[in-house]
Amino acid sequence: MPRDIDEKALHERFSKGYQLIKSDLLRQLERSNCGCDYGATSFTTLEQVYELITKLNLEPNKRLLEVGAGSGWPGLYMAKETGCDVTFTDLPIEGLQVAKQRAAKDNLTDLSRMVVASGSALPFRNNWFHAVSHSDVLCCLVDKLSVLKACREVVHPHGVMVFSVILISPNLSQADYREAAELGPSFMASDDTYTHLLGQSGWDLRNHVDLSKQFMETLQVKLNNEINHADDLKRLLGKVETDIRLTRTQAYINGLERGLTRRESFEVVPA
Ligand SMILES: C[S@@+](CC[C@H](N)C(=O)[O-])C[C@H]1O[C@@H](n2cnc3c(N)ncnc32)[C@H](O)[C@@H]1O
Repeated sequence: MPRDIDEKALHERFSKGYQLIKSDLLRQLERSNCGCDYGATSFTTLEQVYELITKLNLEPNKRLLEVGAGSGWPGLYMAKETGCDVTFTDLPIEGLQVAKQRAAKDNLTDLSRMVVASGSALPFRNNWFHAVSHSDVLCCLVDKLSVLKACREVVHPHGVMVFSVILISPNLSQADYREAAELGPSFMASDDTYTHLLGQSGWDLRNHVDLSKQFMETLQVKLNNEINHADDLKRLLGKVETDIRLTRTQAYINGLERGLTRRESFEVVPA
C-alpha cells in the first residue's frame, strides 16, 4: 500500500518535476543516466528503447499509444526513429506541454498528439492502436487492473503492449514486504501478481524479462552523478529536495541489492 503520499500528491510531484526539465544540469544528468534528454522520469534507457521499437513492431503508419507519457520519453524518440504515429496521455499537463514543444522542435508535430487522460479512462476508439507502451507507470498508481483493461480496449486485436514496472519481489516475509514497499516507487505494492492482473484484463503474456541488472547499473550511475553534482543540485532544487533525491536513489539501490525489489518488462498481446 502507498506510504507517505497519495496519488494526487504524486501527480503534483511529477508536475513540479516536469516544470524543471529545461534545466541544463538536469538534462546533462539525464543524458548520463539514461542516454536521453527528454526529461525522463522512468528508468528506460536508450538501449532499451531499441528493444521496445522491435517488440512493438513500430514503423510508418503504425499508431502507438504511450500511457503515463510524462514529457514524451520514450514515445517521441520512437516516433523519430521509426516514423510511427504517437499519442501521449498523462494527468499532469506540464509534462505533455514539454512533449509538445519537443515534438515541434523534432518536426514531429504531425505525427504526435498529447491528451490529458487517466490511463484507466482512455478516450479513444476501441481497437485503434497497433501498439501500447508504458514505462514504470503502473508502480505510480494504485488501480493497475483498470489501466490494463483500458489499454486492452483500445489496442487492435493483433496489436501488442510492452511495459516496464518496478515491483516487489514475490514470496517475501511480511517484514521484508513492508520494508520493500519503502525502497521503490510509491505504488509498487500490488495485491495481485502482474501475471494474474494480465489474465484478468484480457492479455496473454508473450515475453517477460527481468531488467533488474540494467536497472542497478542505471541507478549506480545516477547516484554517482547526484553525489558529484550535489552542490549544483542544491543550488537548483534546494537542500531538502536534493537530499530527498539522493536518499530515494540510494533506497532503490538497497531494495534491488537485497533482492526485495525488481524492474521487469512485460510483452503482452490480446488474449
Ligand atoms: C515514471 S513516470 C514515466 C514518465 C515517462 N513515460 C518517462 O518514461 O519518463 C510515470 C508517469 O505516470 C503518470 N501517471 C500516474 N498515474 C497515472 C494515471 N492514473 N494515468 C495516467 N498516467 C499516470 C505520472 O504522471 C508520470 O508522468
